[in-house]
Amino acid sequence: MTIDSKKRIVSGMRSTGKLHLGHYFGVLTNWEKLQNEYEAFFFIADWHALTTKYNDTANLKENVQDVLLDWLAAGIDPNKATIYLQSLVPETSELHIYLSMITPQNWVERDPTLKDMTKILRTQGASDNSITYGLLGYPVLMTADIITFNADYVPVGVDQVAHIEISRDIIRRFNNIYNLQYFKEPKPLLTDIPLLKGIDGNKMGKSFNNDIKISDDDKTTEQKIMRAITDRSRIKRDDPGHPKECEVAYPYWKIFGTEEEVKQIETDCRGAKLGCADCKRCLAKKVNEFMAPMRERRIEYAKNPANVREILIEGSKKARMEAKKILDGAKEAIGMYM
Ligand code: TRP
Ligand code: SF4
Repeated sequence: MTIDSKKRIVSGMRSTGKLHLGHYFGVLTNWEKLQNEYEAFFFIADWHALTTKYNDTANLKENVQDVLLDWLAAGIDPNKATIYLQSLVPETSELHIYLSMITPQNWVERDPTLKDMTKILRTQGASDNSITYGLLGYPVLMTADIITFNADYVPVGVDQVAHIEISRDIIRRFNNIYNLQYFKEPKPLLTDIPLLKGIDGNKMGKSFNNDIKISDDDKTTEQKIMRAITDRSRIKRDDPGHPKECEVAYPYWKIFGTEEEVKQIETDCRGAKLGCADCKRCLAKKVNEFMAPMRERRIEYAKNPANVREILIEGSKKARMEAKKILDGAKEAIGMYM
């Protein structure tokens, strides 16, 4: 395949702090693979972070750096993919304005992912005033991100698919209204890796305090894994265990252990030869071994912040050049005075 015939992918992640293994297995492993096969644009969605954190901006810069370090640690490669910061490509915000004009209000109000987000905000004590116009425009801004590069595919976690559906609708309407076949309707690209639960058995998430960070050290990782839910019916050490009922530790083994190790764990667990504490201690070692190269890479990059910053600045410049062409085409199609 020549460079020119490569299909395009665009995806982003909100910069709300250090990333965890849910991000790694749900999204980053996929990106790492796809960057070899596609012309890839990966961006840090700092505007999207503002949709809920507009009054909590003290850590904005630090969060951007942390996300970038986590990406680099996970093998996202600036020589293969264009890595950029959303707010350094203002063409996206201009496209967002045009899209916002044609997006029916009830489409954004119906967005199920947004409904979940506002529900979470409410349980955290948010008032009506904290559900803002910007938050309502979340899927419209995502659509702008995607058309900024006229992407063919959008590699995301399952939680983002509903947003992408709305993006496809918005793009179709945009094309219809201005009578152009300009923008492609992007398709989501999902990973086949099973969802990694948090150590308490719920969805892994920073705000649920159940996550293991890419950047956690070995000791922290072990402490967290020792808290992982196992087979709830297993009370005593010599009760036989049921791997299939083991909510977190066993599914983790299936991801981090070899096939043989998993078989051995099953046998020892069922035969009550292995206690859950020992099992999890072993598991923590496996997780730490798996994470070691990533964590080393992260530490190395962190030693040179100027270099890391340069990656983002250069990537954003490159992204902007492409974005400008697409924006001009869209403005012309709409009939703007240029
Ligand atoms: N909403 C995504 C998230 O929360 C981030 C994102 C913003 C995104 N714009 C996007 C993902 C465009 C894919 C395409 O992680
Ligand atoms: Fe889970 Fe291991 Fe305990 Fe079995 S021994 S229930 S696999 S933690």
